[in-house]
Formats: sequence, structure tokens, C-alpha cells
Amino acid sequence: MDRIVVKGGGPLAGRIEISGAKNACLALMPATLLSEEPLTLTNAPRLSDIRTMSVLLESLGAEISTMQDGKVLAMSSHAADNHVADYDIVRKMRASNLVLGPLLARHGHAVVSLPGGCAIGARPMDLHISALEAMGAQIDLRDGYLHAEAKGGLKGADITLRFASVGATENTVMAATLAKGTTILRNAAREPEIVDLVECLRKMGAQIEGEGTATITIEGVDRLHGATHPVVADRIETGTYMLAPAIAGGEVELVGGRMDLLGAFCEKLDACGIELSETGTGLIAKRRNGRVDAVNVVTEVFPGFPTDLQAQMMAVMCTANGVSVLEERIFENRFMHAPELIRMGAHIDVQGGIATVTGVEKLRGAPVMATDLRASVSLILAALAAEGETVVNRVYHLDRGYERVEEKLGAVGARIERVSE
Ligand code: EPU
Repeated sequence: MDRIVVKGGGPLAGRIEISGAKNACLALMPATLLSEEPLTLTNAPRLSDIRTMSVLLESLGAEISTMQDGKVLAMSSHAADNHVADYDIVRKMRASNLVLGPLLARHGHAVVSLPGGCAIGARPMDLHISALEAMGAQIDLRDGYLHAEAKGGLKGADITLRFASVGATENTVMAATLAKGTTILRNAAREPEIVDLVECLRKMGAQIEGEGTATITIEGVDRLHGATHPVVADRIETGTYMLAPAIAGGEVELVGGRMDLLGAFCEKLDACGIELSETGTGLIAKRRNGRVDAVNVVTEVFPGFPTDLQAQMMAVMCTANGVSVLEERIFENRFMHAPELIRMGAHIDVQGGIATVTGVEKLRGAPVMATDLRASVSLILAALAAEGETVVNRVYHLDRGYERVEEKLGAVGARIERVSE
């Protein structure tokens, strides 16, 4: 298994190109199942999670070819007739559950393995299930699989989500595009990935209004057609690299990065001493003074501070001036990076969903490992400014969501390399 070795160093300078968003692409790909005509995605990120979704869709009968070194995904589901999403694929990646809505809408039935828990929390699917049931589906759990059936097809419904779940919103919106009648989804997630999905579905002929607000209205149509759609920029990758100069100093230009996708995150960066400016093609993040100032963070649904940037922000707070309090409200177990950061000399006290970080002047390099994607990259950020060498193990987590991290950070002066075993 590969490892990433980082030697802490001086300030960063240069440009990083931002890739298409993993989480947008993972929702856009299953949309191919909704139509017999081809769906082509451009600006797709080259990540192992995207390959896992391709394997899943191919197992369902979709044909997928890649072009431009993987940046273009040409998908066709004209012959897709399998409706069983197998445990062996689903267990690798929770986003596999996003085939449930499209399969049910297209075939009237679907058998999808329940993903199971993951390192950051239990992550049940009750919201997806109750929304689809409200649209007339019958869903039973047997042998670890959700068996879903909509005799006579799905019907539009007035649905209120108990929590604004990203995945439940995506599954429900996709299912509703082909349902009979109107679906009103209330307390819908407002994340930019939802907006991107709806823009693509609209190009495919879907009738949808209200994306980016808490109420999405979908008028079912008989069929969807083909389309070509560019995947939106990855806001989490952007935010991660905005935090690199925050901890290591210097300034980086993020080509393709969009501040408007980052909500409250940009305000927090400004408050802790990071200067942000928009360029015609992206943005520049620059550390104003020496160490950043401590700020408090509460993770929330969009446009609040994203949970997917909490680990990276904690790494930055480890060397901030003062004490910061980070509260994780989206996932119940998303502080697995804290014990690893403590091994690097950080002062962190975790009590339930609240972490109190007392900034220290310097972190020290150490061998570390992480149990999830964002935790792994937080350790790389910490390593950029640590004294000595840090070895980040279990790099496969990183490869799920960060495209060529060592090349991108290397290009702005970080001393980082991948070591294959
Ligand atoms: N939840 C339920 N029941 C449900 C669905 C969700 O209780 O039926 C709970 C979850 O357990 C969690 C909370 O609601 O505590 C939020 O879950 P949500 O459904 O919004 O998240 P998701 O769709 O499973 C996506 C991203 C995550 C990101 C979250 C929150 C994808 C593929 N994944 O997950 O990304 O953290 O939204 O923004 O879009 C990552 O990229 O590292 C990552 C974990």
C-alpha cells in the first residue's frame, strides 16, 4: 500500500488546478440509469470512488467509456437491465446507494445492498426509504438488501425530510423525475452538488424548480433524454487547498476554485487571518501575518461550515494563536483525526461532538494514519508545517477523494512524495 511522506517546510507559492467535485460526480453518474440515451460528464475527477461507481453502474448493465485520460465519462444505459446492486460493490462506497432512486424510477423495482456503517458514523438510509415509500414504493429489508418495488410506477408526493440529507435529496429528486405527477420535497438539502445534479437532470428533460432552496418541486415526465454536463468544481478540494497556506504560510492560486460554493467557510478563513480574493479564473488564498488566529467552528448543512472541511480546519487550528472550539453536528464520529494530530504534538480535548484545540507553536512530524478521507488530508496539512518528516499511511482513503494530491501540493512548493511499497 502507498504512503505519503511529507517534510515540513516554508511558505507555499504557486497554482493548483481544482478538479470536478467527487460528490457531485457520484450523484450525476447514477442519473444515466434514468435514460436510454447517453449521458456524458466532462470535468470528472480521476478518483477511486469514481471508478467504484463505474464498476457498480457497469454491473447494472450500463456501458461506460472514458476519454481525455478519465476526465470525460461517456455513459449509456440503453441496455441496463440488471436491478441488483451487489453488496461486494456497495460496501466499498456508501454513495452506491444513489442508484436506488434511479433504478426504481426506471424499472419499477430495485434490490440494493444496505451500505452498513462507516468510520464517521452509522449513516442510516431511513430518510431515503421513507421518501421513496411516500412516492408509492414498497421497501423491505431482506438478507442485508433493500428490496424496493413500485407496482404501477412511482407517484408524485408531498414529502418533508426530517433532516436535509444530501443523499436522500438526490435519490428522491432522481426518482421523482420519472414519477407520475408532482413531487414537492421540503427541507431538501441545498448543497451545490444538488444544484449541479438538478442542472444536469434539466438538460436531460426533467422539470424541476427550486434547487438550492429548501423546497424542490419536480414535475414527473415520461422519459428523459441524453445530455452532456460539466461536473461543478470541487468545493471541498478548494477549501482544503485554501487551508494549505493557512498552516504553512504563503499564497496559492486555485484555478477553477469558487468562493460562492463555500458559504460560511470563507467567513471563518477571513476571521482567522486568511486573505481571499477572486481572480477571473479562480481565487487566491494568502496568509496575512504569522500564525492564524483561533476561531470557533460549528459544522452545519449548506451554507453552514461543511463537515467535509472540519478535519482540515482542526489541523490548522492546532498551530493557531489561542483556543478554538470545533463542534461536529453532522456526523457522530468524525474526530478520528484528533488522536493522530495529538501524536504530532497538538493539544486537543475531545468531549463527545466537541473538540477544544489549544494552538501550539509547532507540530512535529510522526508516522500517522487515518480512517477516512478528510481525516487523511488533514494530516497532510498538519505535516506541511510540522518539524521533520510525517508519513501518512493508508493512502487509499486519500485516493478516494483527492486527485494527485502529491503533485498538486508539490507544485506549490510542498516537500511531499508518494512512496509505493
Ligand atoms: N442521515 C440519516 N438518515 C438518512 C440519511 C442521512 O440519519 O437516511 C444522517 C446521516 O447519518 C448523517 C447526516 O444525516 O448523520 C448527514 O447525512 P447526508 O445524507 O446528508 O450525507 P450523505 O449524502 O451520506 C454526503 C457526502 C458526504 C458529506 C455529507 C454531508 C456524498 C457522496 N457524500 O453524504 O461526503 O459529508 O453529504 O455534507 O455526497 C466526504 O466526501 O468525505 C463525505 C463523507
